[in-house]
Amino acid sequence: MRASRQGEAWRVYGEKHRVVATHGSPSPTPPASATRSQNGASLRPLERFVCIPLVPAAQPINPVSFAFASGSTQVRFDGSSERMGIAQAAAPLRLHLGCSGAAPPRPTSLRVGVGFGSHARRKGGRRRNPPRAASSLHPSSNPRAHDHEPALKPPAPAPAVDVAGRDLNGAADHAPQQRRRAASDLEEEAWALLRESVVSYCGSPVGTIAACDPNDSSPLNYDQVFIRDFVPSGIAFLLKGEYDIVRNFILHTLQLQSWEKTMDCHSPGQGLMPASFKVRVVPLEGDEEGATEEVLDPDFGEAAIGRVAPVDSGLWWIILLRAYGKCSGDLSFHERIDVQTGIKLILKLCLADGFDMFPTLLVTDGSCMMDRRMGIHGHPLEIQSLFYSALLCAREMLTPEDGSADLIRALNNRLMALSFHIREYYWLDKRKLNEIYRYKTEEYSYDAVNKFNIYPDQIPPWLVEWIPPEGGYLIGNLQPAHMDFRFFSLGNLWSIVSSLATTRQSHAILDLVEAKWSDLVAEMPLKICYPALEDQEWKYITGSDPKNTPWSYHNAGSWPTLLWQLTVACIKMNRPEIAARAVEVAERRISTDKWPEYYDTKRGRFIGKQARLFQTWSIAGFLVAKLLLENPEKSRILCNNEDEEFANAFNLMADSCNPNRKRGRKAPKKTYIV
Ligand code: GLC
Repeated sequence: MRASRQGEAWRVYGEKHRVVATHGSPSPTPPASATRSQNGASLRPLERFVCIPLVPAAQPINPVSFAFASGSTQVRFDGSSERMGIAQAAAPLRLHLGCSGAAPPRPTSLRVGVGFGSHARRKGGRRRNPPRAASSLHPSSNPRAHDHEPALKPPAPAPAVDVAGRDLNGAADHAPQQRRRAASDLEEEAWALLRESVVSYCGSPVGTIAACDPNDSSPLNYDQVFIRDFVPSGIAFLLKGEYDIVRNFILHTLQLQSWEKTMDCHSPGQGLMPASFKVRVVPLEGDEEGATEEVLDPDFGEAAIGRVAPVDSGLWWIILLRAYGKCSGDLSFHERIDVQTGIKLILKLCLADGFDMFPTLLVTDGSCMMDRRMGIHGHPLEIQSLFYSALLCAREMLTPEDGSADLIRALNNRLMALSFHIREYYWLDKRKLNEIYRYKTEEYSYDAVNKFNIYPDQIPPWLVEWIPPEGGYLIGNLQPAHMDFRFFSLGNLWSIVSSLATTRQSHAILDLVEAKWSDLVAEMPLKICYPALEDQEWKYITGSDPKNTPWSYHNAGSWPTLLWQLTVACIKMNRPEIAARAVEVAERRISTDKWPEYYDTKRGRFIGKQARLFQTWSIAGFLVAKLLLENPEKSRILCNNEDEEFANAFNLMADSCNPNRKRGRKAPKKTYIV
């Protein structure tokens, strides 16, 4: 019965759903070697899907066998020995990727703890109850056991130090040594926790879950692998020389991307990467012996709170892909046809024409790390800096071929316009603020100084006092007649990392971080944004969101994960001592506080109201910061250097946009407003 089904896996069933091949053409019959599942698992009848063997140049897509399912409809095929591509179904389908029911090989390089891949399944056998928080670590070495395991030695409290790192108690001689020991205990603990958060799928590590608190009875979607959250985990593994998990993550999320998704009968553009995915264990259909199988279940925002679109996912995916290649030396990985297709799909989605006149990417509220309503719709800085970085990374990785010339041209045009627009119009320092303060409004002309018709009255009173004499930053958002003057950390830091900010601006941003240390770092690095929305503003802008009350969560809470981006930015500008100081601040309490997701209050004094504990990206962010400070040259896997051509063009454009320069009345021949 099972054997007779195997052949069906290669047949095309497509009456209802038009099936489109990305590469190669559908094969009506499978290659002989593929009719048999490698591990002998049964294959289920196929409907509405097509398996497509790829044209020669491709490499195997997936080291394990996998399956697709839509409702009760499933198809499985082995990708291990055959070169094949993924078909794209044009109709809305809920996609699950599943692996076969045979016992997967246990990973050797990673200890798998909490997670869904940790329970081995036997072909035709029943799965045992999922061991929540089952850990391969000995309990006494398990930091998650803090509550119940008093035996665990808490890391020695770090001595009090001031902002400059000086010991306030004057214990000069042995303090540095003690601190080093405490710090290395902390790193060990962090590694143990990070490894415990690894999720396996068909026996291979594919990601890390967002939070791993064994005492949390309602984890919501924190038991999923978030794309953005995995980035610091992935970087930590790369820096440790453990490449498989990152490679698997990239390939599995790529397969999730290749399919259409839908919400209320509407399908967003192809190329969207999910916000998160979960490995689910489901009963193997038709199997009377109660066998189960694992399926990958992505969330593209259709289940997320507020139904937010994860615009940043695909951008982070490209950034991680480049880092993987640079770090592992596996430089041909990104040349795979499926990977190239994935990059192009993301680019096409981002570069598609719309109504927008700006070169910045237009998005809805909550489309990035701040995935709730926070008044960041429009052109938020975080998305722009990731967009710029992803475009540069993609340009490095795209293989030249017929048909890609237009894409590369569009990409270059966008890069140029985007960098000019951000550097020129998002930049704010004392001098620029004074300029805005004196703006004339209602200027109708090509030569307008106040191009976006910003009314000086919208300068918030806090800013007039806050802006330091030295230093500056990129504002949070720019729209017609609207500047969001809040300081957003991730957007500013990634603008440094990606060279979206000029060298001078990058130094000025770090000057500001130093000058405003007690606001941005204080008792726990780093404020997600500054300052908080309060009173009426909080009411109108967040919709009275009780999770985003002033100085909490996205509304100016302090997020330890941001340490890693701070570290990359500081190292790039050759100022690692700033990051080192911030790491020291975090070290004083992050472990005793059980690695919270975020901290509340103006100075980050309290563990956040609803903060998850053992939040994986807090742990991974800390580790990446430590690893990079030890090996600063490794941060180049994440940085983009200033493109000289752009720098020259930027100077020319800046000159031509100088309002003091005499200009004709003719409209500039530009596609974008810059
Ligand atoms: C929260 C954060 C988001 C993160 C997710 C998982 O929703 O806002 O940025 O990805 O938790 O940790």
